[in-house]
Amino acid sequence: MSRYLVTGGAGFIGSHLVESLLAEGHAARVLDDFSTGRRENLPPAAELILGDVADPATTSAAMAGMDGCFHLAAIASVARAAEDWPGTHRVNLGGTVAVLDAARARRVPVVFASSAAVYGDCADRPLTEAAPTHPLSAYGADKLGSELHAAVATGVFGVPTVGLRFFNVFGPRQDPASPYSGVISVFAGRLRAGAPLVLHGDGEQTRDFVFVADVVAALLAAMAWRGGTAAVFNVCSGRATSIRELAATLAAIAGLPPRLTEGSPRPGDIRHSLGSPEASRAALGLGPPIPLAEGLAAVWAWLGRP
Ligand SMILES: NC(=O)c1ccc[n+]([C@@H]2O[C@H](COP(=O)([O-])OP(=O)(O)OC[C@H]3O[C@@H](n4cnc5c(N)ncnc54)[C@H](O)[C@@H]3O)[C@@H](O)[C@H]2O)c1
Repeated sequence: MSRYLVTGGAGFIGSHLVESLLAEGHAARVLDDFSTGRRENLPPAAELILGDVADPATTSAAMAGMDGCFHLAAIASVARAAEDWPGTHRVNLGGTVAVLDAARARRVPVVFASSAAVYGDCADRPLTEAAPTHPLSAYGADKLGSELHAAVATGVFGVPTVGLRFFNVFGPRQDPASPYSGVISVFAGRLRAGAPLVLHGDGEQTRDFVFVADVVAALLAAMAWRGGTAAVFNVCSGRATSIRELAATLAAIAGLPPRLTEGSPRPGDIRHSLGSPEASRAALGLGPPIPLAEGLAAVWAWLGRP
């Protein structure tokens, strides 16, 4: 049994990770401020510290006695980062530095959430980890900054670190307002209401959707990985799904005809985003991704729960 700190453990991805850690017989301590996370996401066996990850004293106290830290706490919103640049920077980069600093005192390994946002509008398809990074948002810049600080933590202070560049993660408990895969909850809600599904533009834009259980598997494997250097891996399915295909697949699961209408394109929307999962599969020993339809069926069932 090991003891793990999960920052942001009351959020969408973090709460699935906490469930898996507990199911594997580990102890999980969650540091969260409930800004977007919810208490009801947490299993009763998880220990909770209610606090701010960017406060060094809080994070240092939370790290005491831990064998590893999963750092997921962030203000995961490009829009919020545009509205409150200094405030989100404080959490998204300052929180990472506080975690790494607390970890170096005890040489606690850290696995942290980065993002495909570090690639910006890089046209490579698929995007490998060697693609140039060119964030187009303060959020993406802070994720890239987190990777750079993690490299310092490893190279200079000997803290094992792995950064995971998540693509469009989806699954039960996701906030419909999520910029990543909130479209799935929005489409599901409209299907239930018998309303048409509104596409931004022609719906031919593509995303790399990865189911949350695959993300949890990557997080756990990354904690076990000891490559010796600071590593960064994509966490993605390697499959491009157009928003039209997404709508049709979800409608088929619901047993309803997809009624699609074209709305205005969202300004600044990236046309295509596709990750290469090759490096993470090879290094972390990950299996094939959960098929999109299977993941969507789980979301549909969860949204329809009583
Ligand atoms: N969901 C995706 O598709 C996706 C894609 C790329 C990267 N990510 C990253 O994965 C991580 C988890 O994202 P998520 O989708 O689960 O989002 P989420 O909003 O559900 O989870 C973030 C958690 O962090 C907590 N938090 C925020 N600020 C905090 C602070 N100052 N102190 C303590 N806790 C704080 C929130 O309350 C929440 O529980 C984030 O780092 C996010 O940037 C997510």
